[in-house]
Amino acid sequence: ENAQLKDIISHAKEYGFVYPSSEIYDGLQAVYDYGAYGVELKNNLKRLWWETMTRVHENIVGIDAAIFMHPTTWKASGHVDSFNDPMIDNKDSKKRYRADVLVEEHAAKLENEGKAEEAKQLTAALARLLEAEDLAGVRDLIVNTGITCPISGTTNWTDVRQFNLMFSTQVGSVAEDASTIYLRPETAQGIFVNFLNVQKTARMKVPFGIAQIGKAFRNEIVARQFIFRMREFEQMEMQFFVRPGTELDWYKQWSETRMNWHLALGTPAEKLRKHDHEKLAHYANAAMDIEYEFPFGFKEVEGIHSRTDFDLKSHQEFSKKKQQYFDPEVNQNYIPYVIETSIGADRLFLLTLCNAYTEEKAEEKSRTYLKFHPAIAPVKAAILPLTKKDGLPEKAQEIVDLLKYDFNIIYEDAASIGKRYARQDLIGTPFCIAVDHQTLEDNTVTIRHRDTTEQERVSISELHGRITEATSF
Ligand code: GAP
Repeated sequence: ENAQLKDIISHAKEYGFVYPSSEIYDGLQAVYDYGAYGVELKNNLKRLWWETMTRVHENIVGIDAAIFMHPTTWKASGHVDSFNDPMIDNKDSKKRYRADVLVEEHAAKLENEGKAEEAKQLTAALARLLEAEDLAGVRDLIVNTGITCPISGTTNWTDVRQFNLMFSTQVGSVAEDASTIYLRPETAQGIFVNFLNVQKTARMKVPFGIAQIGKAFRNEIVARQFIFRMREFEQMEMQFFVRPGTELDWYKQWSETRMNWHLALGTPAEKLRKHDHEKLAHYANAAMDIEYEFPFGFKEVEGIHSRTDFDLKSHQEFSKKKQQYFDPEVNQNYIPYVIETSIGADRLFLLTLCNAYTEEKAEEKSRTYLKFHPAIAPVKAAILPLTKKDGLPEKAQEIVDLLKYDFNIIYEDAASIGKRYARQDLIGTPFCIAVDHQTLEDNTVTIRHRDTTEQERVSISELHGRITEATSF
């Protein structure tokens, strides 16, 4: 892992954002827990997404579907048959790899060595073989290219096999086939199977959307890069149901809306890019990713897909229940087409953390701080009495009580004021509010701003309004 990512991972752990799961048992690969500031940040991101989807758009409503679904769901969606990654094992190290990733990483290495043409040929060969589902060919490509195992250094590879990414478990106590169910690998299907329930009960008219935030599970073979690729993660998905024939206009509109959302959150334009899919999944007629430049390169954060009527049609076939909508405007029954926006909450969290992490090197004093947009900062303000005597803590506590019902506030009176400012910088608190002797006389405090470290004197009565303004999105 590169140096910058390492710094971010250790910062996240040290300052209460993200810990490895069950760390006292040496952790569980690709599973993570969120700490005191992490959970606040993640909740703020989720709330912001939820509000921009369901409040700003009058024609989008939410649902909260279960993680477990009837197993036929995953037959209909295509996950049972084709939600696979090609994997290969090295016989010496006994390590398992994604065969396609091994080849891609080797191509990246070639490119770094200035062998761009060779790299291009290799990725083209891989694409051809995957397209033809020629797994033996993928193995030959790995062996003939001389790709070695990063652990053992040998080319002693097994065959390439398809590996289904869904986790399964048993319901009930009878070990029959019928009792095998899956942990959902995407939240989207909970929306599709509820399409008519929601349309009827919330009295929605096409075009309309259904939004959902929830856990999803994938048995990822390559689980690296911290919370970028996890086995248990959270998705924020919205399916937008439209009249057939209008889907590409909506696709364009949603691609722009979602990109603008990222920009509004403070992600610089040069760190974001669109990536149009050339090769489309069997259910899509247009697809693109919004990519962010992580410390390990430009990678997908969000996908926008025009999924046609694939999912609803397939559920209609498998369930034998009509999935049609009567459109009074055109006096027609049809299965709506769907535009999907899908983003991982954890991946957005990592983007936010990478984007906020700032190391300022200065002659006299260097400092590290997290430059979060105040709307998503885990703590909005720290109330800091200059000393622990003369009634300053009591006065500071009054300010805490004034603000705590509307904002996440911290009170701290230990250590020097400079140290306390530095600590708030490390967790990204936009405002430090210092209470001193003058406060007792005229009810004013100093606000110290995180990004500029500038201070200003304001009256206590202004605080609520100032924080409200800064933290609105
Ligand atoms: N319903 C469409 C769907 O699930 P996807 O591209 O497989 O599409 C959508 O996933 C988003 O979910 C990704 O852009 C990413 O942000 C997030 N995501 C997918 N797999 C993930 C994983 N293993 N760990 C963390 N986030 C993941």
